[in-house]
Amino acid sequence: MKKGIFIVVDGLDGSGKSEIVKMLHNYLFSKHKKYRILTTREPTNGSYGKLIRQMLSKEKDPESSSKKLMWLFIKDRKEHLKNTIGPFLKKSNKHELNIALCDRYYYSTIAFQSAQGLDIQKLIEKNEQFRKPDIAFILDVEPAIALERISYRQKEKFEQLEFMKKIRKNFLKLPKLLNDNIKVIDSSKSLKEVFNNIRKEVDKVLD
Ligand SMILES: Nc1ncnc2c1ncn2[C@@H]1O[C@H](COP(=O)(O)OP(=O)(O)O)[C@@H](O)[C@H]1O
Ligand SMILES: [Mg+2]
Repeated sequence: MKKGIFIVVDGLDGSGKSEIVKMLHNYLFSKHKKYRILTTREPTNGSYGKLIRQMLSKEKDPESSSKKLMWLFIKDRKEHLKNTIGPFLKKSNKHELNIALCDRYYYSTIAFQSAQGLDIQKLIEKNEQFRKPDIAFILDVEPAIALERISYRQKEKFEQLEFMKKIRKNFLKLPKLLNDNIKVIDSSKSLKEVFNNIRKEVDKVLD
């Protein structure tokens, strides 16, 4: 049996992932003394992750570099699991339950790179090698609202309304296409409501 608990929060830019991950971290840290929590994100800050970040901030056309991005995300994820998430979860024992919280995962690679025109089944196959989360949340919100929420940030490659609509559709296909424990959460609601819905699901996994 796999040790530890692996929780993923995914969704569009501006859907509220980073806020929810921070709230979950705080919640779990106080919930039980036996919990040890690792909060992490993709792309990582490793060598592949840095290349990805550079491309996302420099490139303007959302359609370009689809294959290159897919490979970089896969390499980054391999490294992330091997060096960070895997070793942490393995250290779980009778006295301590290790919980990894990850902001974005392969759901993003599948939704974004298929919106760029790559075959969704191929993207799924390429990601079958990776550990499945115990539970994954897809924060779902209208792209217009998501864009409004991040209007203060510098726009990146994929942060354009029409493109985000495609990404959203792909995210919503994933529960049927993957054999994962995915919960789609309406994140147009207040942060408090969104968090409460997520907390209930996380409590079910832990209790
Ligand atoms: N449910 C929500 N309602 C209103 N504002 C939100 C909600 N979730 C997040 N925000 C705000 O939207 C912005 C983007 O949220 P963030 O967590 O950074 O999204 P992501 O990490 O998915 O890009 C932040 O300013 C955040 O406070
Ligand atoms: Mg974020």
